[in-house]
Amino acid sequence: MPSIRVALAGATGNIGAPILEALLGSDFNVTALSRIGGNSSKLKPHPNLVIKEVDFSSIESLTPALMGVQVVVSCVATMAMGDQNPLIDAAAAAGVKRFIPAEFGIDSQNPLCMQLPIVGVSKVKTQQRLREKSRSDPGFTYTAIANGLFLDWCLEETIILDIPKHTATLYNGGDVKFSASLLSDIAKAVLGVIAHQDETANRVVYIHSALITQNQLIRYAKEQDGREWDTIVKDTEELRQESLAAQAEGSKGGMEAAALGFSLCGMFNSDYGCDFSSHLDNKLLGIKELNEDELRKLVGSFL
Ligand SMILES: NC(=O)c1ccc[n+]([C@@H]2O[C@H](COP(=O)([O-])OP(=O)(O)OC[C@H]3O[C@@H](n4cnc5c(N)ncnc54)[C@H](OP(=O)(O)O)[C@@H]3O)[C@@H](O)[C@H]2O)c1
Repeated sequence: MPSIRVALAGATGNIGAPILEALLGSDFNVTALSRIGGNSSKLKPHPNLVIKEVDFSSIESLTPALMGVQVVVSCVATMAMGDQNPLIDAAAAAGVKRFIPAEFGIDSQNPLCMQLPIVGVSKVKTQQRLREKSRSDPGFTYTAIANGLFLDWCLEETIILDIPKHTATLYNGGDVKFSASLLSDIAKAVLGVIAHQDETANRVVYIHSALITQNQLIRYAKEQDGREWDTIVKDTEELRQESLAAQAEGSKGGMEAAALGFSLCGMFNSDYGCDFSSHLDNKLLGIKELNEDELRKLVGSFL
């Protein structure tokens, strides 16, 4: 679909970068929307890439940058997820057909996830605005992507296991089955949504690269190097309470720690819908699940 122009906000970020690569690799024309004075200098020039610095709080700044754009993909940082309304309003005003909001994680339709401050509340608020816009203008549609945990990124960042050090915090015991996705599969899902706009209109799509447990990943590591692990167990309800306290403290660091804590509560508790296997859109969006050997190799790549 080379004639389609996609605007990508947060193209310089953890998930924005692989999505940008996938879009350019599929010959889309891309407009990267970057904050004024933000990270745009990190973007490599490409013949199909236009970079526009914008004020994300201003519809007047955003609307002209979105003229001629058919699809907006928002990959803005977690702490900016609650501020997507001007981007949504500008997209609708510019005649954008599909808006993919910054979500890319836990199940934003699960009643408990919806109550998680920062992550859940921002997603609910954003979807509310998207629904309002699509009701008043049926040509404007949205798709939110729920992919569970960023699998390779969370291993790299030692968020769910520290494989090199053989240490881990096992949430709710470490045997909770959770959905997780490779960044490359999330990028593939974005391409899939653009290719299947009718089937994905005005809903959340669910994907995962694998349904796994923390203990399963540790087993794969042990099989390869035989070393013992140093682990502690943590209840995610305790983590939720700590995150509420960090949020109340109000500093930037506290808010970021709280956002991570709330995300982990949604990722490692089946009541929060962290197992997507009964309602996956993998087939529609062209996502193949990893087999045991591929998962073993992934873990091995961090040993
Ligand atoms: N499921 C998971 O495990 C998981 C993990 C991480 C993130 N996520 C989700 O993925 C989405 C994107 O997160 P990310 O980690 O890829 O984002 P990120 O790397 O932290 O930031 C992405 C980009 O957002 C832009 N930005 C806009 N407003 C910002 C602000 N107030 N502060 C900092 N940057 C801002 C920046 O780009 P410019 O400077 O170019 O404007 C930045 O490079 C979010 O919805 C997040 O919740 C999910």
